[in-house]
Amino acid sequence: MFLNTRSLFVWCLAALLEAEAASVSSKPKSIVLSESAPSNAGIPLDSFVSYSFELSSWPDFAGKINLDIAIFDASQKTGLLGIVRPNISSDYPTIITIGPSFFESYKTMPKGTKYSHGFNLGANSSAARTATFASAAYACKAIGSDLAYWEYGNEPDPFVSSGYRPHNYTEAAYVEEWLNGTTAISSAVKAACPSLANTKFMAPSFAGVGPANDFFTLDPVLAWKNGLDQNDNIGLISSHNYMGVSTSPGITLQGTLMNHTNVVAKAGDQLREWAAIKALGNGLDPDVPFILGEHNSLARQGRPGLSNSFGAALWGVDWNVYLASQNISRSHMHQGTNYRYQSWQPIQTNLTTIGTKPPYYGNLAVAAMMAKPHPSSLLKITHLPASSANNSFYTAHIDKTLTRLLIVDLHTYNTTANNYTTSFPRPVESHTFQLPACCRGGAVHRLVANGSDAVTGITWDGNSYNYELAEGKPVRQGNVTCGERVKIDRKGVVRLDVEWSSAVVVTLDC
Ligand SMILES: *[C@@H]1O[C@H](CO)[C@@H](O)[C@H](O)[C@H]1NC(C)=O
Ligand SMILES: *[C@@H]1O[C@H](CO)[C@@H](O)[C@H](O)[C@H]1NC(C)=O
Ligand SMILES: *[C@@H]1O[C@H](CO)[C@@H](O)[C@H](O)[C@H]1NC(C)=O
Ligand SMILES: *[C@@H]1O[C@H](CO)[C@@H](O)[C@H](O)[C@H]1NC(C)=O
Ligand SMILES: *[C@@H]1O[C@H](CO)[C@@H](O)[C@H](O)[C@H]1NC(C)=O
Ligand SMILES: *[C@@H]1O[C@H](CO)[C@@H](O)[C@H](O)[C@H]1NC(C)=O
Ligand SMILES: *[C@@H]1O[C@H](CO)[C@@H](O)[C@H](O)[C@H]1NC(C)=O
Ligand SMILES: *[C@@H]1O[C@H](CO)[C@@H](O)[C@H](O)[C@H]1NC(C)=O
Ligand SMILES: *[C@@H]1O[C@H](CO)[C@@H](O)[C@H](O)[C@H]1NC(C)=O
Ligand SMILES: *[C@@H]1O[C@H](CO)[C@@H](O)[C@H](O)[C@H]1NC(C)=O
Ligand SMILES: *[C@@H]1O[C@H](CO)[C@@H](O)[C@H](O)[C@H]1NC(C)=O
Ligand SMILES: *[C@@H]1O[C@H](CO)[C@@H](O)[C@H](O)[C@H]1NC(C)=O
Repeated sequence: MFLNTRSLFVWCLAALLEAEAASVSSKPKSIVLSESAPSNAGIPLDSFVSYSFELSSWPDFAGKINLDIAIFDASQKTGLLGIVRPNISSDYPTIITIGPSFFESYKTMPKGTKYSHGFNLGANSSAARTATFASAAYACKAIGSDLAYWEYGNEPDPFVSSGYRPHNYTEAAYVEEWLNGTTAISSAVKAACPSLANTKFMAPSFAGVGPANDFFTLDPVLAWKNGLDQNDNIGLISSHNYMGVSTSPGITLQGTLMNHTNVVAKAGDQLREWAAIKALGNGLDPDVPFILGEHNSLARQGRPGLSNSFGAALWGVDWNVYLASQNISRSHMHQGTNYRYQSWQPIQTNLTTIGTKPPYYGNLAVAAMMAKPHPSSLLKITHLPASSANNSFYTAHIDKTLTRLLIVDLHTYNTTANNYTTSFPRPVESHTFQLPACCRGGAVHRLVANGSDAVTGITWDGNSYNYELAEGKPVRQGNVTCGERVKIDRKGVVRLDVEWSSAVVVTLDC
């Protein structure tokens, strides 16, 4: 009796000491994960991370395309003819014509892929407009029931800067063109593909968030104010985003991409645009989801050493999941052949080796965090207030159950592979979480590499998806641990050790 009571006491004391020791050694308190999602959790659309593709790269990749500078020629035998003008960009052709066979590529993609097809608004001659409207019949017949949305115009807000419109181009002029063009496209579609007659548009796909400036001369909010949605044919509000311009001075991995404060600030610019559209009222604001119709790390195809690094993959995880937590409903990550920020290079060129690139591994982690067991499941994404500049935390709830935890460590850490090594051993940060009583365990899936500057040797959950191993299919790597489980203590507290420059998704059994 006595012994039992005493040993019980000792056990309690030990537990108490343990709890005290834990709260002393781990600076912040346990982060509380709630059993149900908070009322402001984000509710994303399905296929949250999607891709947008540069038109000229489309025959290489095949996917959602950006048609703004391409002119349709019904008599052209080749699918796509492109002329590169290096004084404008050496990364993609800026004079493009497409022929009917271009649209056949839509039939080569895996089943279940949905497309949004973009029509040319940039070319403003009456011949070019007529050709654009004529292409609508080819597009709708080729895409058929896989069509999600149309788009008419890509980044019209710098049309003046790029010489596609005169200096007096206004939001009102843009809206008039857009209304005329979408009416013409819709009637061509109705005639050629009656079942797709009511397909809506995503719009306006501006590069800037407003207000207008010398480069982005149109303000997206003023486009809505000028009646962009007066025909009630807009299904998604689309905006574009880059964290910065690759050629700008002062861009760094730590300061621009691996910086949660900057992620929150840049998303804030988009959210302010959306709020200003919603505030227009009077039926000027469409009650439809707001998406990033095109985005990636750094504009002008990314910067070598930054956009193609593992650090950019970690940025992509933080950025995308943060967007979802704020109800930015879908994210089209922009791709192009030879682009520095691409998730994969589809063909071998003299500039870039064919294969899986670091950002792809970030896409995998986001997909794991946001997967739904069933299309009708309700997914909610929450950004936890414990997040700071160097660490972000998120939870996923599915149908009211706490299902996943994501930790992104954004401290840069350099490998020994490049000329800049970090002068101290790689730190590991411990985070503790207080789980709801119902949680029984969890499986740990890590996104790791030798450091944030790594461009190879990356794994997601112990697998490499490198092209040279199994053409992009997962291959288990013997030198990376996987199959880890969390240990939940008697108080429902779980500790996770996360090394600098890595991310962890825990799938919880709650
Ligand atoms: C996201 O949308 C849901 C559903 O409309 C809403 O309940 C929630 O408050 C929104 N959260 C944010 C951060 O906007
Ligand atoms: C680019 O060079 C071509 C000739 O190669 C010229 O016609 C064109 O005006 C130039 N464009 C710009 C924007 O400088
Ligand atoms: C088309 O844009 C060009 C270049 O800015 C301009 O000179 C021309 O007036 C525009 N034409 C029409 C019909 O808007
Ligand atoms: C804009 O400028 C063009 C000449 O570049 C002119 O033809 C057109 O009438 C002007 N439009 C307006 C609305 O002033
Ligand atoms: C729009 O269509 C109307 C009626 O067909 C026409 O008068 C007007 O010039 C068109 N405007 C533009 C910018 O295409
Ligand atoms: C992170 O981003 C914020 C907001 O843009 C900025 O103020 C801060 O200086 C950045 N941090 C670093 C380390 O550059
Ligand atoms: C790379 O390939 C392109 C297109 O095939 C060609 O125009 C260019 O001259 C090549 N450059 C080099 C350095 O080989
Ligand atoms: C984030 O990490 C950087 C680099 O290690 C450090 O200089 C900075 O103080 C950290 N910021 C915060 C808010 O902890
Ligand atoms: C490292 O520096 C050496 C000597 O300065 C240079 O030859 C090499 O290209 C550099 N390597 C990288 C990856 O920058
Ligand atoms: C990593 O290398 C870059 C240069 O590429 C340097 O600016 C940065 O300070 C290094 N970061 C760390 C954490 O050592
Ligand atoms: C990563 O680090 C390990 C251990 O130091 C080393 O064997 C491996 O070659 C490195 N991988 C890359 C891609 O640098
Ligand atoms: C595991 O091996 C691969 C292939 O040799 C290498 O690229 C990678 O860096 C290694 N990873 C670690 C953590 O050592």
